[in-house]
Amino acid sequence: MKGDFDSKLLSRVDKNKLPRHVAIIMDGNGRWASIRGLLRSAGHTAGVKTLKKILTLAVNLELEALTVYAFSTENWKRPHAEVDFLMHLFSEYIEREKMEMHENNVRIKFIGRLEEFSAGIRKQIFDATELMKNNSGVKFNIAANYGGQDEIVRAAQSLAEKISAGKIFPQEITSEVFENELDTKNQPPVDLLIRTGGDFRISNFLLWQSAYAEFWFTKTNFPEFSQEEFIDALVDFGNRERKFGALNENKK
Ligand code: IPE
Ligand code: IPE
Ligand code: MG
Repeated sequence: MKGDFDSKLLSRVDKNKLPRHVAIIMDGNGRWASIRGLLRSAGHTAGVKTLKKILTLAVNLELEALTVYAFSTENWKRPHAEVDFLMHLFSEYIEREKMEMHENNVRIKFIGRLEEFSAGIRKQIFDATELMKNNSGVKFNIAANYGGQDEIVRAAQSLAEKISAGKIFPQEITSEVFENELDTKNQPPVDLLIRTGGDFRISNFLLWQSAYAEFWFTKTNFPEFSQEEFIDALVDFGNRERKFGALNENKK
């Protein structure tokens, strides 16, 4: 993983202008496959290869956090065969990649409603998370059976339980307290949100965390999303003016 890229790429980015947290909606796998007369599943397999290249760059750029959308709470609506394939791919990916991620100091975390996965996958998720829990490198979050609304509802439920148990008063709930109930607690908010595949929507991804994210959309389907294009997005991010609601009066 380390070093598996063209080192000229890194010289294009100004390290001081990098986002702390990048999130990616990895979309367009199915279309990539259909255009080539392949099954949608071939698109998902190709997407996994792209993911490895992107994680490699994240490791080498020393990004603080990378969150990728692998399976949404809405993706269960797809045909059985596709859902089964995705589960199989997911499990294979964890097994195949976890040692190399660990050697690269990656700290993996799975976000979403994990209890709906099979016992086998839950065990793999648990083992991979345990293996990497003390690593200090890139926080690599895989959103699996994840929905932004679902995450917010779960946070609200957890706070409601704390209130009914007398552990906290309603007036004590602040944005910070709320954030601590989210799957991404202790992680920075999303700075840059990338969506491949040509659609301009958020599809229930990281709704809370993206409140002030910069968006970057590309028509490229995820299997063809390259390390170069990832760098393009990071360079573009570096040139954006972020205001967070304020006036940037010190602007030259
Ligand atoms: C994204 O690619 C991967 C998942 C949702 C699992 P798609 O499967 O949505 O591909 P398109 O959007 O149909 O091309
Ligand atoms: C978003 O893509 C979910 C993932 C990439 C896992 P979708 O393909 O499910 O989103 P929609 O249906 O086009 O909004
Ligand atoms: Mg899609």
